[in-house]
Amino acid sequence: MSNMEKPDWLEEAWQATIDKVSRTSQRIGAGFPHASPNGTYVLEHPFWWTAGFWPGLLWLLYEGSNDERFRSIAEQCEERLDEVLDGYDRLDHDLGFMWTLTSIASYKLAGGGEQSKRRALKAANYLAARFNIKGRYIRAWNPWFEGENNAGLAIIDCAMNTPLLYWASRVSGDPRYGHIAEAHMDTVLERFIRPDGSVYHIISFDPDTGAFVEGLGGQGYAPESAWSRGTAWALYGLTLSYHHTGKQKYLDAAKRVAHFFLSQLPDDHVPHWDFRLPPEVTKYRDSSAGACAASGLLLLAEKVGPLQSQAYREPAIRILESLYRNYCAWSDPSEEGLILQGTSHYPENKNIDVPLIYGDFFFVEGLARLRGANTSFWE
Ligand code: GLY
Repeated sequence: MSNMEKPDWLEEAWQATIDKVSRTSQRIGAGFPHASPNGTYVLEHPFWWTAGFWPGLLWLLYEGSNDERFRSIAEQCEERLDEVLDGYDRLDHDLGFMWTLTSIASYKLAGGGEQSKRRALKAANYLAARFNIKGRYIRAWNPWFEGENNAGLAIIDCAMNTPLLYWASRVSGDPRYGHIAEAHMDTVLERFIRPDGSVYHIISFDPDTGAFVEGLGGQGYAPESAWSRGTAWALYGLTLSYHHTGKQKYLDAAKRVAHFFLSQLPDDHVPHWDFRLPPEVTKYRDSSAGACAASGLLLLAEKVGPLQSQAYREPAIRILESLYRNYCAWSDPSEEGLILQGTSHYPENKNIDVPLIYGDFFFVEGLARLRGANTSFWE
């Protein structure tokens, strides 16, 4: 973490977050919140891809406060996920989000020990097994309905799942996991990132031959639009791949995506859910994309030289300050979400303009990064 000056609102935002989560965690406990459509977080089944964000957020607060209540709930969440590891056939590529923010967090921050290490390695094995060697991509989902064949789909979100593989190579001493992560990220460079730094959400391949088929709109408005959270996943995931491999091509691409993302922000620095919308479509914000990009930009600022660093750190701070001042419901004790106005899935009309747990997580991670904390789950 750089020793540059910290913003004057930072400690106030951190304390407000601690106070609020001390309260909300009493109800949520070791549950798995996703979205808060009416002020109360809906708790999902632990199989859902978002299961790591709440324990991950609690680990961040524990690291910054030493409050054992946060640690205890995070550990209970990790234990609850054992049921999911045993039912592995229901797991998809989001294993990375789930075990990076639970078992790796516990292993790194709190001496989670051999059991946490084993859990995360098991998850890494399942993730590695999703690699399609012909297409050089990690398969995204399992069939959503009987008979569906989606073995050829890969999505940009998976850039954030590759840190689990880099970690597994490091702790096991076996480079195969990292080779798979790099092969997938090379496919991201080749197929997902457009020359202008915008990204596709989904790329479809022929799973038998590995041939490229087409780009799909997915959670964005259209195939050629620019889904803002997907852009944030790419920005952060490429920066992490540079961190783990030292390969310049990932840093160059992360910067290209960052420049596109920053060029599209509205006056209050918090992105719309897609950067390319026709006039008739409502430009809801997606605060989660802003929070994720801000935390990724802070890491990117550490990876470039001192002359370039402020170009990423300053906009990250502007995004986080706007989230803190304009998007948090500090004065409404009945709202459990930290940051308002996230958009989960506009095309399916799901969880629009609501707090989302991943938005809350990356907001807290951004604050923790600014405070100079150990936020090294992904690193
Ligand atoms: N597909 C995960 C997300 O909503 O970003």
